[in-house]
Amino acid sequence: MIVELDKTTVRMKNPDHVRGIISSIKKDGVNKLQVISDFDMTLSRFGWNGRRCPTSHNILDNSQVITEEGKKQLKDLLHYYYPIEIDPNRTLEEKCPLMVEWWTRAHDLLSQQKILKGDIAQIVKESEVMLREGFNEFFDQLHKNNVPLFIFSAGVGDILEEIIRQANVFHPNINVVSNYMDFDDNGILRGFKRPLIHTYNKNNTVLNNTEYFQQLSTKTSIILLGDSMGDLTMADGVTNVKNILKIGFLNDKVEEHRGKYLESYDIVLERDETLDVVNGILRYTFIET
Ligand code: TMP
Ligand code: MG
Repeated sequence: MIVELDKTTVRMKNPDHVRGIISSIKKDGVNKLQVISDFDMTLSRFGWNGRRCPTSHNILDNSQVITEEGKKQLKDLLHYYYPIEIDPNRTLEEKCPLMVEWWTRAHDLLSQQKILKGDIAQIVKESEVMLREGFNEFFDQLHKNNVPLFIFSAGVGDILEEIIRQANVFHPNINVVSNYMDFDDNGILRGFKRPLIHTYNKNNTVLNNTEYFQQLSTKTSIILLGDSMGDLTMADGVTNVKNILKIGFLNDKVEEHRGKYLESYDIVLERDETLDVVNGILRYTFIET
């Protein structure tokens, strides 16, 4: 049915269940479909040529506009909090306050750096960020078929929008909820807008029944894309869900996390830097039969 599902990177706990959901999504039709996706390390690449690619926060951290001292402090935060973020042995209750602490401290540091709104495009241009292979087909298929793409990100909204814009795929079917920068009248960064979105509050609590989510209530088929356990709740705000297919990119510490990902995501993609599987499923869904 979908040859991409035979790739060696694909793992499924229950392949029959996956086939059932995909058939049901196709049967209900394109008009009922929406895609809800994380950004960092899901639509963007985790690595390239043996090197790690940056998250939207890292793009700022690594840029020339940050002082050496600022860079060191941001790196120290990353080294302290990232292992906590992905620790399979800690509960959500333990992780949440620590993630708020990380994001708050990182945003405070960034806000002391005199980052200019006018510099964002250049900062992105000079970064090593890359969208996953096959991104053009992914964004274009959704656009052509009028399928809403909701990007729900704990990264930096201004940065990820600029990445998508520079890749020429920022189509009108895209909506983003993320951490947006707050600039003063001189275009200097002075903070971040609320609510603060971190890895583990990507759910209803920050969407608060936004108008956008109301509009989506008729889209009862969902394809959810994520790379973290925190991405699994991104569709919780949709009231009428008939079919949901959860696809998870397992990028890091694969053996350690495999069990948990297989329990939670319908399809797990191990060290797969492409959107091949997602594109294959979309192509199949969109083909008229
Ligand atoms: P997301 O992919 O779930 O939207 O999460 C964003 C990622 O950003 C998450 O994996 C942690 C990472 N991050 C940084 O790399 N640097 C930072 O300063 C912060 C606050 C988060
Ligand atoms: Mg992510």
